[in-house]
Amino acid sequence: MSAVSRGTWKSNTGFILAAVGGAVGLGNLWGFSYSASQGGGAAFVVLYLFFVLSVGLPVLTAELVIGRHTGQSPIRAMGAIASRWKWLGVVFVAVGFGILSFYSVIMGWTGRMLLDFALGWVPSDTGTYFGQISEGGDAVFAHALGMILTILIIAGGVQHGIERVAVVLMPVLFLLLIGLAIWAATLSGAGAGYGFYLKPDFSAVFRQPTVTGAAGQAFFSLSLGMGAMITYASYLGGKGSIPGKAVAIAGADTLVAFVGGMVTFPIIFHFDLLADVNESTIGALFIAVPRGFLEMSFAGRLVGTFFFLALYIAAITSAISLLEVCTSAFIDSLGWERKKTAWILGILIAIAGMPSALSTEWVGFLFALLGQVFLIFGGLMLALITGYFWSGTALEELRRGFDSAALATLWIWLLRTVVPLALLVVLYFSISQTVIPAAKALFGASS
Ligand code: PHE
Repeated sequence: MSAVSRGTWKSNTGFILAAVGGAVGLGNLWGFSYSASQGGGAAFVVLYLFFVLSVGLPVLTAELVIGRHTGQSPIRAMGAIASRWKWLGVVFVAVGFGILSFYSVIMGWTGRMLLDFALGWVPSDTGTYFGQISEGGDAVFAHALGMILTILIIAGGVQHGIERVAVVLMPVLFLLLIGLAIWAATLSGAGAGYGFYLKPDFSAVFRQPTVTGAAGQAFFSLSLGMGAMITYASYLGGKGSIPGKAVAIAGADTLVAFVGGMVTFPIIFHFDLLADVNESTIGALFIAVPRGFLEMSFAGRLVGTFFFLALYIAAITSAISLLEVCTSAFIDSLGWERKKTAWILGILIAIAGMPSALSTEWVGFLFALLGQVFLIFGGLMLALITGYFWSGTALEELRRGFDSAALATLWIWLLRTVVPLALLVVLYFSISQTVIPAAKALFGASS
């Protein structure tokens, strides 16, 4: 059977680091700080935590249970639950394909910034500079290069590609972030930055865009609702506590996002950049934060290099998880060979990313549509399927290596009630308030 050639993780730590690598990405270091700055600082953080615990963790657990139980990538995994759910697996693969097409473009911007900071080439007008590198030939080149790196890692396989890269790069990422947070603490604006970040402005919390934003951010950040976690868990086998793994993954992801804020907020306040951050959405951190670094000449060049290196590591370990979802689906469903599959799909994704490399508005639209709405939809479906149609088997699988019957019951109850209700509401608002405006920005209404 194909199980022989599918591959497995070498160690549990390897799995956790790979899964954390998939989850920790641009969403943590770029999206989280931006959303927090718009959503009342700590008020957003509290809301975010609440959402991760009550909705994110149950869905993450469901994905891990599905992946480990079926030992298959999303299409076959959903088909193994019941053949009528196979289409959802197909949607997952398509969403992974689409997300990677624009994600790799943003990764390209970070790579370019990394290179330019290292070489001291970032000009003082970061707004114009960002405009130049984010659209057109430069963006296409950086995007293509990032895709090639991603393909090479996926072609290496589960243990020799994904796990090996994660085991080396994730500790580097953690160290870089801790170092940056310590450096940021020495800035004169640090106090004001922490104040804004950690003092909850509860008037902002109960505004509906903040709530929707926190939910969407949590799903994107935890890589939920598109089968990434199903795929990684399909290489698990064995026993071990799934809730334990889910808590480790969600905990590490949230911690990194939080520490990311401890880096960005002191920078924003030290260099008085809040207005710049508020100005634009997509480019906010790419324009504002470098502006701060440039004011510090050599030290800034060094810190800028580390900052964008951290961002690039975070991005590529997520990019590989996206390509793995697509690749593994073709391997499992069609019996294709891994290397060939990785190259064919990777090149197709690189081509599909061209519109994003030519227009940041296209990035914004795809992010709203695929990175928000489709992930929420996928999470909603997973909760309903696991909670209502598959709860017997799901409970059995969960209990392999996990003792608490009470928590297991609570999990199914959440999947049946709180999770779908919350996701339905969020789905409605994210369609009406993110996708539709983003589509308008892209397709017309130029007035
Ligand atoms: N979680 C990643 C991030 O925060 C993005 C991602 C979403 C990766 C969905 C895989 C699947 O950047």
